[in-house]
Amino acid sequence: MTTQRDAAAKPIQVGLLGIGTVGSGTFNVLQRNQEEIRRRAGREIRISMVADLDTARAQAVVGDAAQVVADARAVIVNPQIDIVIELIGGYGIARTLVMEAIRAGKHVVTANKALLAVHGTEIFAAARDKGVVVAFEAAVAGGIPIIKALREGLTANRIEWIAGIINGTTNFILSEMRAKGLDFDVVLKEAQRLGYAEADPTFDIEGVDAAHKATIMSAIAFGTPVQFAKAHVEGITQLNAADIRYAEQLGYRIKLLGITKRRNDVKGGGIELRVHPTLIPAKRLIANVEGAMNAVLVQGDAVGATLYYGKGAGSEPTASAVIADLVDITRLHSADPDHRVPHLAFQHDAMQDTPILPIGDVVTSFYLRLQVADQAGVLARITGILAEHDISIDALLQRESAEGEAQTDVIILTHDTVEGRMNQAITQMQALPTVLAPIVRIRKEELS
Ligand code: HSE
Repeated sequence: MTTQRDAAAKPIQVGLLGIGTVGSGTFNVLQRNQEEIRRRAGREIRISMVADLDTARAQAVVGDAAQVVADARAVIVNPQIDIVIELIGGYGIARTLVMEAIRAGKHVVTANKALLAVHGTEIFAAARDKGVVVAFEAAVAGGIPIIKALREGLTANRIEWIAGIINGTTNFILSEMRAKGLDFDVVLKEAQRLGYAEADPTFDIEGVDAAHKATIMSAIAFGTPVQFAKAHVEGITQLNAADIRYAEQLGYRIKLLGITKRRNDVKGGGIELRVHPTLIPAKRLIANVEGAMNAVLVQGDAVGATLYYGKGAGSEPTASAVIADLVDITRLHSADPDHRVPHLAFQHDAMQDTPILPIGDVVTSFYLRLQVADQAGVLARITGILAEHDISIDALLQRESAEGEAQTDVIILTHDTVEGRMNQAITQMQALPTVLAPIVRIRKEELS
């Protein structure tokens, strides 16, 4: 049924910068679900202009439904365009174009987590000055509406922590390593062959992509500035099949988690912001998120734990988030900027500069694997060092050495300790002549 309001409203005009995988998904979903989306938004949302250096590819996607240009600036300066979608990626030209679009008074929708994690403060300030919105649901966990959940659905809560599987490539690799007992390098090659990992997978496997997303979630959860430079980032390149197997024997899975946590025990307050491989109990729902899927676990003081699961990448899942932002902006297009949901959930004059804690101050429990000489007293010396540093052992496993084998693996799970203290203990244990190889150390979280 067409309402009077619908009939009166002009379509909102959208300019799209970059029509690759997500751009074409956005165009196609908008066309396919046009009527449903219009019923929700109150107006038609129309991509009327597309900029892409590959104009032939762009033309093939949009046909004659939109004007195609090679020059992104032609979109930005067009007075007919209300919203600019930036799907170029990276911190270079994308940053310049987003800033120009804001200065031109356009609302911006972006999936660019790298840009926001590094330059978000500057971008949000410029948007506020101009009275426009920069919306970024697609920047974190693709199709999962986690920004909406954190910023609006959980707004009653004091968020305590967030732990997320927010990179599909690495989750696919870890799932394959566990299922097939293979080492990282072998699975990475397979993932590249199947198209799960990029030809240059550095940002994914080194944890950088996950850290961009964790940085954005942290700012929204705690009302602090986006500070990617202060995130602690470790990827999965050093993991091997043996540790995944030992973790399994002890009832744990290893996942690359983006974690941010409020620390009330630190004077003046502090925030942990880190990405690293993490042992988590195999019985937790999030431990069973397999393949390229994403999941984010959020602990709020009122609601308790909530878990969000879905596709973190891909053409139409990411388009789903981009279009949700388009609908939001369309609905509030004529609203007073002061009545909008703030970019980072908290009013800008209520943001706090709570420090991100250095990794040495982070508190976790640990998995340790020591390759040791199989001799009397070796274990006593190791546990003695841990005791000297007030590190309590939670579980211990020793591989039975084979006939005639002079060495074995000792696996230790500890209780919570400060990382700096664990580092000192590791340095001391590493210096023992009976410890035969670099000690493997993986952080562990119970997530309860
Ligand atoms: N490369 C990312 C991933 C998707 O593997 O999850 C986009 O953020």
